[in-house]
Amino acid sequence: MPNVTFTSPQMKKDLTVYAVAGDTRTLLALAQANKVPVAFECQNGECGSCQVQVSVLSNKTPIGVALTEKEKTVLRLAGKITAQQIADAETKDLPPPWRLACQCVVRDEDVLVTF
Ligand code: FES
Repeated sequence: MPNVTFTSPQMKKDLTVYAVAGDTRTLLALAQANKVPVAFECQNGECGSCQVQVSVLSNKTPIGVALTEKEKTVLRLAGKITAQQIADAETKDLPPPWRLACQCVVRDEDVLVTF
């Protein structure tokens, strides 16, 4: 079961949530279910208000990601992802450090989510 730890200056202390194995919710849905104040508006990968930094908390190779076109576009316009990071995600399965919480699905790895 993955542990998802949320940290932010907006929170009194960090919160670690134990996600259910096989959970297919997004980080935003998990945050909302646990009253973590991650900002959001559209919940559809278009506004960019839910940008979060995601770090894998293990020495294992991070699980590869499939970024949606919307996520790539929004993060690129916000200056949170480079063309090289997009290429690395597509060809080497390397997840970029910034994600849209409404598009990022919880996976079976422990992560730190900073916002
Ligand atoms: S809430 Fe709009 S991009 Fe995630």
